[in-house]
Amino acid sequence: MKIAVIGTGNMGSGFARALVAAGKEVIIGHRDPAKAAALAADIGSNVEGGGIPVALKVSDIAIFALPYDATIAHLKEAGDLTGKILVDISNPIAPDYKDLVLGLTTSAAEEIQKAAPTATVVKAFNTIFAGLLAQEARPGKTLQVFVAGDEPSATGKVRDLAAALGFAPTDAGPLTNSRFLEPIGEMNIQFGYFLGRGTGIAPAWVSVAD
Ligand SMILES: NC(=O)c1ccc[n+]([C@@H]2O[C@H](COP(=O)([O-])OP(=O)(O)OC[C@H]3O[C@@H](n4cnc5c(N)ncnc54)[C@H](OP(=O)(O)O)[C@@H]3O)[C@@H](O)[C@H]2O)c1
Repeated sequence: MKIAVIGTGNMGSGFARALVAAGKEVIIGHRDPAKAAALAADIGSNVEGGGIPVALKVSDIAIFALPYDATIAHLKEAGDLTGKILVDISNPIAPDYKDLVLGLTTSAAEEIQKAAPTATVVKAFNTIFAGLLAQEARPGKTLQVFVAGDEPSATGKVRDLAAALGFAPTDAGPLTNSRFLEPIGEMNIQFGYFLGRGTGIAPAWVSVAD
């Protein structure tokens, strides 16, 4: 099963490196195929790079590591995505990181699903800072990854992916719950960047029974 990582920035490069380290076969897609190929060459084996359409075509699961609005724009031109699982990791926030831009009656994940109606969108990883994608960045800690989606087989595959990267996948219910996960992502950013906690943090649900 080939996994596409769309984007070569903090999250895209972090996912590509972490997935390859976990033994996955990866294709990186970028609007500039040469940029994707350069990142792939830097990572080494089991990974290739190219344009976004080819990465989507040859993969079963695609992790979109672009700004939310760029994901929407590319999906509208992506062609047939029937049967693909699209992982939305985005936090749709203002350029100053201080506010959500979509409000609470929809979510980035739901808007991405509307833009790619024949694919299956799963929300995950939006509460994990890029620097924590590498397993060696979190020794002794198993961080929770909240996974929301409407198709059990798709959410199951994304939970398996999170587990393969050393996270504790947590079932977060239907895709509409992205309306609640995205504000948690914004709160994580508030703690990390504006309240002095730094980016070595992640939210978790804990039970007094644990
Ligand atoms: N950074 C985090 O810790 C973190 C944590 C959780 C979720 N997220 C989410 O992850 C996503 C990516 O964040 P990031 O921090 O990796 O951002 P980033 O470092 O700025 O990387 C963004 C990537 O998107 C590409 N891109 C930007 N505008 C584009 C467009 N219009 N069309 C095509 N490609 C475009 C960039 O290409 P160029 O570099 O060539 O412009 C780059 O490869 C965002 O949705 C963010 O909310 C981030």
